[in-house]
Amino acid sequence: MTNPSLLILPGDGIGPEVMAEVRKIIDWYGDKRGLVFDVSEGLVGGCSYDAHGTPLTDETMEKAQSVDAVLLGAVGGPKYDDLDFSVKPERGLLRLRKEMDLYANLRPAQCFDALADFSSLKKDVVAGLDIMIVRELTSGIYFGEPRGIFEEGNERVGINTQRYTESEIERVARSAFELARKRNNKVCSMEKANVMESGILWRAVVSEVHEKEYPDVELSHMYADAGAMQLCRWPKQFDVIVTDNLFGDLLSDAAAMLTGSLGMLPSASLGAPMANGRPKALYEPVHGSAPDIAGQGKANPIACILSFAMALRYSFDMGAEADRLEAAVEKVLADGVRTADLLGEEGVTPVSTSEMGDAIVAALDSSL
Ligand code: IPM
Ligand code: MG
Repeated sequence: MTNPSLLILPGDGIGPEVMAEVRKIIDWYGDKRGLVFDVSEGLVGGCSYDAHGTPLTDETMEKAQSVDAVLLGAVGGPKYDDLDFSVKPERGLLRLRKEMDLYANLRPAQCFDALADFSSLKKDVVAGLDIMIVRELTSGIYFGEPRGIFEEGNERVGINTQRYTESEIERVARSAFELARKRNNKVCSMEKANVMESGILWRAVVSEVHEKEYPDVELSHMYADAGAMQLCRWPKQFDVIVTDNLFGDLLSDAAAMLTGSLGMLPSASLGAPMANGRPKALYEPVHGSAPDIAGQGKANPIACILSFAMALRYSFDMGAEADRLEAAVEKVLADGVRTADLLGEEGVTPVSTSEMGDAIVAALDSSL
């Protein structure tokens, strides 16, 4: 049997720092669990633009298509703000998502007990929170045509198009229902069917898939604005939320903040199964490149490390090892180890990015 293959794309800003900690975890699994990964590295985002004049080269794109899973840090930074839109760092990430056809973006929002006090919401509203946002990732207004900035009379007009086909809605709905069956069996679908035709179709298609294939799952619908309000009011009413690309972008940032820190949350972007049965997959933290703290050893590597845990679970069918890694993170937090984004308690000195990684490796050791 060949080893599972991983392409690591650290990217920009804090990406390389947090990814260095994931490398420690990957090495630990090789040394201590005999799980050896074939790891290769590449460039994406601003660093790729600096080296090659494009945020993602064709070679790296091909590599991403050929491996079992891609692990990405973060892209972007102020240095690239004035670049032409077509070569902005974000275009590299969007090209990966689109060409790998990673239509289902899983964004869990989970509140660790040790961190319930960090939320901007009251502790009883967030303690024990465990919800999953399934965001459609390859269509909608992010990719719809026509798009552009055009002249119209004597002024400019900016155009983007929200567009969803039935089959695009069906497949992401199935992902959400499948996940719900393994969780608390509830899906809430969010759109704006009150003002958008694409929302009317979204609601209808999700309902049809539900009726035909998943009648055992509890389904509800909400307008996305009301959904945002409910997320802040009482987030524990939700189990799985399924929504489109743009609403999912917004709702997942809001949900992430409920849990106390954006530095904690992983994500998985999954596509159709490959020949080996594994889904096309890219794993990345929900947070961005945080240029303000890049290079200072302050970043929290947990989101990126938990993204690797999602890879163990969803790409490699190693749920028990994913549980082990998540438990190690939980233990370190329960022991009071905190990076700078998690301060607020009295008398706590923050640890560096690499000390947090070491603490998690030590917790893994003690799990054996
Ligand atoms: C995200 C990010 C991206 C998005 C950016 C970096 C293109 O905000 O993954 O949520 O808008 O999808
Ligand atoms: Mg976002």
